[in-house]
Formats: sequence, structure tokens, C-alpha cells
Amino acid sequence: MSFSGDFSGKTVVVIGGTSGINRGIAEAFAASGAKLAVASRSQEKVDDTVAALKKVGAAEAIGAAFDVRDSDSVAAGLKHFHEALGDFDVLVSGAAGNFPALAAEMSVNAFKTVIDIDLMGTIHVLKGAYPYLKRPGASIINISAPQSYLPYEGQAHVCAAKAGVDQITRTLSMEWGVEGIRVNSVVPGFIEGTEGAKRLAPTPDAGEALRKDVPLGRWGQPQDVANACLFLSSDMASYISGTVLAVDGALYQRGSGKFGQMMGQMLRSMKKG
Ligand code: HXC
Ligand code: NAP
Repeated sequence: MSFSGDFSGKTVVVIGGTSGINRGIAEAFAASGAKLAVASRSQEKVDDTVAALKKVGAAEAIGAAFDVRDSDSVAAGLKHFHEALGDFDVLVSGAAGNFPALAAEMSVNAFKTVIDIDLMGTIHVLKGAYPYLKRPGASIINISAPQSYLPYEGQAHVCAAKAGVDQITRTLSMEWGVEGIRVNSVVPGFIEGTEGAKRLAPTPDAGEALRKDVPLGRWGQPQDVANACLFLSSDMASYISGTVLAVDGALYQRGSGKFGQMMGQMLRSMKKG
């Protein structure tokens, strides 16, 4: 068996697929000949992405604007995608929100906002898609983060949310595995130029300090994460389920140490100043 990277005739749904890493994933599947559906809150970003997906080779591309916090809208959007493109071969759930904030300084609603987007959003997307997943054979990929298993100061909300996301991955790999549905998480490294990287390493110095820490010596690119998603959704990965795969140049083997501490110090000094 060899990896063909050909997704012609497959239906791929990417939630939160209109910027950054997730858009890179959507574009990679489109370039591999798949039919694509993408969603996020902004109709403008959805329209722009759909046009780009057609340009790079999607067999079909459609989109819808909805907020993953609203389970009814998510269910309606996914129903529409199914009516237009048929059973889902691949579902990528990647919508997320993040800001650095110390737990004592953020409001309860700030904490809840990230839980609602990342964690509740994931279950809304997975449950909304469940009736439409190809059986056997569907591949679900939750886009997680190192916060799911490493503690970072200033990230209590994201750590709690993403840990939940990976536990959903592990649990549903068993509950839905019996129907031939695979469920995995992908944990991106620090991916150059993305919103997440800008929010957590806001200055060139912070970015460079992080890059130097990456054992493989370079920033990650959206294509690195997309390659892992193509592999996990291919026949080559037909026995891989319930796993959490870091695509990080081995950065997270170093733990949260220096970076987590830097963020805590920065937030505390902002509080004093
Ligand atoms: C403290 C903050 C805050 C901040 C918002 N809040 N930003 N608190 N510090 N910097 C608080 C608000 O005051 C409010 O609480 C509550 O959070 C909700 O804020 P809203 O602005 O009303 O929320 P909303 O419009 O829904 O926007 C959600 C958002 C926003 C998460 C705040 O930033 C967003 O839409 N983000 C999406 C894009 C994104 O974050 N991408 C990066 C993903 S990267 P009160 O009490 O005032 O009502 C990632 C991991 C990267 O996830 C990992 C790298 C290693
Ligand atoms: P990004 O560009 O901000 O992408 C987030 C996507 O989710 C956008 O399409 C956004 O579009 C959508 N979205 C956000 N909130 C939403 C909501 N409530 N409902 C529906 N859609 C919503 O971020 P990114 O940095 O590329 O991160 C992508 C994923 O990778 C996230 O899951 C993140 O946790 C993970 N990650 C990123 C890094 C990194 O280095 N960047 C590292 C580790 C993990 P709208 O604004 O139109 O809604």
C-alpha cells in the first residue's frame, strides 16, 4: 500500500476552516481533489475561502457562516453540507478562541467563552455531524493544542478546554469506533504567521525565542499540519484511532517551561504597570 494523497470523490468538512491552520488543511484536501465544505462565523471569510478552494482544485466547494457555540445552527449547517455533498469522509473540527489572561484577572465569562468555543463547539460539531459520517471509513480530526497536556501560565481556560477536546477524541474513538469511525486529535506546533502564534508570542523576540527552542530548528507551516491530516484520513492510517498526534518539530517534548513562564511574567508585569 502506498500513500496516494488522492481524495477525489471524498467529502471533507472543515469547521473553523477559513483562516490559518484550518484553512491550510482545507486547501490541502482541495488540492487533492476532494469536495469541500467550510464554516466559520464570518460570511466574508467563508466566501473568500470557498473561492480559494475552487482555485486550488476542489471538486466542489461550499460554505456556511455559523457560530460553533450555537448547537442548532451547527446542526442546520451540517445538514445543509450533507444535502449538498453527501456523507462525510473527513470531518475536521478546529474552531477555537484564545487570549492570554491570568485566571485571577479574567472574568468568569472570559473563561466560559473559551470553553464554549473550543470544548462545547467540538461536541456540537461532532454530534451534529454524527448522522452524516460515512460508515465504515470516516475520519474525524479534532485540532487540539499543547495546552491539552501541558500547563501554561495565562492559559487556564485553554488548558481546560483543550484537555476536554482530547478526552472527547479518546472516548469517541471507542464509542464510534465500533461503527468504523476513526477519531484522532492533531496538536499543531507553533505555526508561522497564524493568529494563535501572534496572540501567544506577540513580539518578534518572543517568536524568535520560541523558534530557537524547536529541536527541528524551524517554525511549523500550515502544510505540516495539513500533511498529518491527509495521512490520518488516508487508508494508510486505517488502524490509527484515539491518538493525539503532535506536529511540532518536537517542541513540546521540552514541556511548557520557558514559554509558559514567560507568558506568566509578561501578564504579571502588565498588571503591575
Ligand atoms: C481577558 C478577555 C480578553 C482578553 C476577551 N475577553 N478577550 N478577557 N483578556 N484578552 C473576555 C471579554 O471581556 C468577555 O468577558 C469575554 O472574554 C468574551 O469576549 P467577547 O469579545 O465578547 O467574545 P467573542 O466576541 O465571542 O470573541 C471570542 C474571543 C475572540 C475568543 C474573545 O478573541 C475570538 O473570536 N477569537 C477567535 C480567533 C482566535 O482566538 N484564534 C486563535 C486560536 S489559537 P466579559 O466578562 O467582559 O463579558 C489557539 C491555541 C494556540 O486556540 C496555541 C498555541 C500554542
Ligand atoms: P485562527 O486563524 O484564528 O482560526 C480559527 C478559525 O476558527 C477561524 O476560521 C475562525 O473564523 C473560526 N472560529 C473562531 N471562533 C469561532 C466560532 N465561535 N464559531 C465558528 N468558527 C469560529 O487560528 P489558528 O491559529 O490558525 O488556530 C487554528 C487551530 O489550531 C485552533 O484550534 C488552535 O487551537 C490550534 N492551534 C494553533 C496553534 C498555532 O500556532 N497557531 C498552535 C496549536 C494549536 P471566524 O473568525 O470567521 O469565526
